[in-house]
Amino acid sequence: MKSPNDFFGSAPEVHTWAPGRVNLLGEHTDYNDGYMLPIATPQRTDVMADRSGDGRFHIYSSTLDETVEFDADEPAPPGFARYMEGCIRLLQQRGVQIPPLKMYVRSNLALGSGLSSSAALEVATLRALRTMLKAELDGVTLAQIAQQAEIQYAGVNCGIMDQMASSLADTQHMLFLDARTLDARLLPLPAGAEIIVIDSGVPRKLAASKYNERRAECEAAAGMLGVQALRDVARLADVEKLPSPIRERARHVVSENLRVLEAADGGSAVSAERFGELMNESHASLRDDYQVSIPELDELTEVLRKQPGVFGARLTGAGFGGACVALCKAGSAAGTGEMVVNRFNAAGGQARLLIPAPQQ
Ligand code: GLA
Repeated sequence: MKSPNDFFGSAPEVHTWAPGRVNLLGEHTDYNDGYMLPIATPQRTDVMADRSGDGRFHIYSSTLDETVEFDADEPAPPGFARYMEGCIRLLQQRGVQIPPLKMYVRSNLALGSGLSSSAALEVATLRALRTMLKAELDGVTLAQIAQQAEIQYAGVNCGIMDQMASSLADTQHMLFLDARTLDARLLPLPAGAEIIVIDSGVPRKLAASKYNERRAECEAAAGMLGVQALRDVARLADVEKLPSPIRERARHVVSENLRVLEAADGGSAVSAERFGELMNESHASLRDDYQVSIPELDELTEVLRKQPGVFGARLTGAGFGGACVALCKAGSAAGTGEMVVNRFNAAGGQARLLIPAPQQ
């Protein structure tokens, strides 16, 4: 593995970073113009950059121990560099002059664990470009460009949550997000509570195709109900006239939006007990109505719920694998998280505690 010094030869001109995200509540609501409550991870992706001087881009990932090179007018090969090239091209399209660069990427966000390492890579890259080229970009615009990089260059038809969270959230608050207006407000976590995040160890295999299928089902539901997006359905009862499975999908989205609005409670979060109940309801809705859970996430969240001091647990992210999150009494997260992981793995599981981050 190369150190930044091996790669650059001297201190690089810029060094920026961005976190991943864990969504506490409001899943599969962003592409329905709805609401969500993500928080930033302590794990992060760092990007360092310098001018290359030889007309080519050179991008090194210390995670993969791999250097990717491409000409200034040539696309990056598929893989991590595509996300970064997308950020470069989209800024160029906005009129920013970008010289060929050397970039070094380092991350402790596990790939595929559902903490949105791709959003962190995009946001950290855009921050590096912004600093180096003195581009005028606020946090929301930066998140929008990062999302477009993911959609247009990495081919993932995602919503705006991950990039907004990576750009605007911190590890001490939840970020109340409105995906339609892009209004974003930091709120305190429920009093006396902290979070546990566990990676199930199950890779998100069907995620892309099923994600697109769910999006299409939501659009169909909105069309049948005559609204622009499911965010505009005010009463849960309105979805009952839809045919199955569109009805169940819409029921999840509409009820999930109501849960987030209740949890955010006009700016001061509800009690940890109530927040936990809303998380449990969210998991049941994702499992039964939205059908994006898997047995491992059902089991992990079930075991978490039974632990003393745990207020509630749910899968987090798109589902079909990835991670789950629990809210628990402040001070108990590390002990409870380790115990649940050990128990799950003793029965053959491959789980890993992600938050609190094990001592490194
Ligand atoms: C993925 C997407 C997000 C969001 C979640 C589900 O993380 O990238 O935009 O749709 O799934 O809530």
